[in-house]
Amino acid sequence: MSVLIKGGTVVTAEQSFRADVLCTDGKITQVGPDLDAADGIEVVDAGGQYVMPGGIDPHTHMQLPFMGTVASEDFYTGTAAGLAGGTTCIIDFVIPAPQQSLMEAYNQWREWSEKAVADYAFHVAVTWWDESVHHDMGRLVEEFGVNSFKHFMAYKGAIMADDEILVNSFTRAWELGALPTVHAENGELVWQLQRKLLDMGITGPEGHPQSRPPEVEGEAANRAIRIAQVLKTPVYLVHVSAKEALEAVIRARNEGQRVFGEVLAGHLMVNDSVYLDKSFEKAAAHVMSPPFRPKDHQRELWRGLQSGNLQTTATDHCCFCADQKAAGRDDFSKIPNGTGGVENRMEVLWDAGVNTGKLTMNEFVRVTSTNAAQIFNMYPRKGSVLAGADADLVVWDPEGTKTISAKTHFQNVDYNIFEGMTVKGKASHTISQGNVVYKDGELNVERGAGRYIHRPPFAPYFDAIGKVRERTKPFSVDR
Ligand code: URP
Ligand code: ZN
Ligand code: ZN
Repeated sequence: MSVLIKGGTVVTAEQSFRADVLCTDGKITQVGPDLDAADGIEVVDAGGQYVMPGGIDPHTHMQLPFMGTVASEDFYTGTAAGLAGGTTCIIDFVIPAPQQSLMEAYNQWREWSEKAVADYAFHVAVTWWDESVHHDMGRLVEEFGVNSFKHFMAYKGAIMADDEILVNSFTRAWELGALPTVHAENGELVWQLQRKLLDMGITGPEGHPQSRPPEVEGEAANRAIRIAQVLKTPVYLVHVSAKEALEAVIRARNEGQRVFGEVLAGHLMVNDSVYLDKSFEKAAAHVMSPPFRPKDHQRELWRGLQSGNLQTTATDHCCFCADQKAAGRDDFSKIPNGTGGVENRMEVLWDAGVNTGKLTMNEFVRVTSTNAAQIFNMYPRKGSVLAGADADLVVWDPEGTKTISAKTHFQNVDYNIFEGMTVKGKASHTISQGNVVYKDGELNVERGAGRYIHRPPFAPYFDAIGKVRERTKPFSVDR
């Protein structure tokens, strides 16, 4: 089974050049000028368009059981929606309940994800600690292709990781050559602020951002980074939303510490005025953590992305419909936290990033695909347009326009945080495992076609000349 993408301009993280791309049996087999279309080959006309690595969204939560309900988007609908927007791979999160074995949770998520239509991998959250967690982290890295572990510094009384868990888990991740990641918000402060606001009679969604001010994120970001510094492990901060957190990332990077930062399309595009909407439904639809921030934070986030201090873009796609959000009608702290966007991330970033000159096309590829592939060790299988790589590609029409709406999106949620936004530049075709799965507005996906992607650990088993090296200092930081 072959597909030839003909007449386009290939855009990668490094360069842009005119070339055709031949995909056979799920892999890219040839990239070059004027490739012949043999009989029977499906030809995609990419004239006037860009051919880029499919997007990688490194932060999604499909069908997550959370805050008394389950996210409305499952692995089937969610990966399909991603394909409609040019995202061909997601990294989702296994989140064990406190005291639940990591292996049991991992197996549960693997079962749920069998219906995915596009490739996916898993980060695994460490929500509690004992010897079995230490042991299971080893099994997950060595036998099951997990190379990143997540720590929620918020959500007290549920999945919050305290300092003891952070230190134990970061230490173990370092031994294994795995990357610790954090949701940086001080969960104790959030908890106390929530109680205080509720006591004051502030029960509506406007209380959500008030209970999670930027300093709460800045403190946790700095703490996680300092813990990582002491333990000499790299660390990845998910959804950096506040300049206080970004400053902590920049300072550490300037000091030579290996710190990575992710920014959400939502945090770049949507500001905190949404929480003042008179309609509970609209304000509650935007309740996610960390919350949307004032515009001055957004300006800094863009600068963080432009400067390379933030390397990846994600969505934190975690959808709840209006009837689910209604659980917090009388108490904002009970509104299930999460918003969507897996379908729209690429187009809103192109429109607000490339069309405005904030990002070059090559930088766009870096922050929507290649950097995530490299940081999470899937490169060059993912995130590249190279012979031998997976044929996960997007054909991008820079002239195509679209007005985003929940009425027309594929996402299984009744709201869209980018509602009404008109973007110029969108996927015309998405190719997943060498198959054209999205074409001119129509999906053609196969339930269960998505594969679980094993991600090996980072420990440098081999040095530059191929000699086996001792696994004592993965990611060691030069000072
Ligand atoms: O509000 C959010 N972000 N919900 C999903 C869980 C998380 O914190 O990432
Ligand atoms: Zn989070
Ligand atoms: Zn999340």
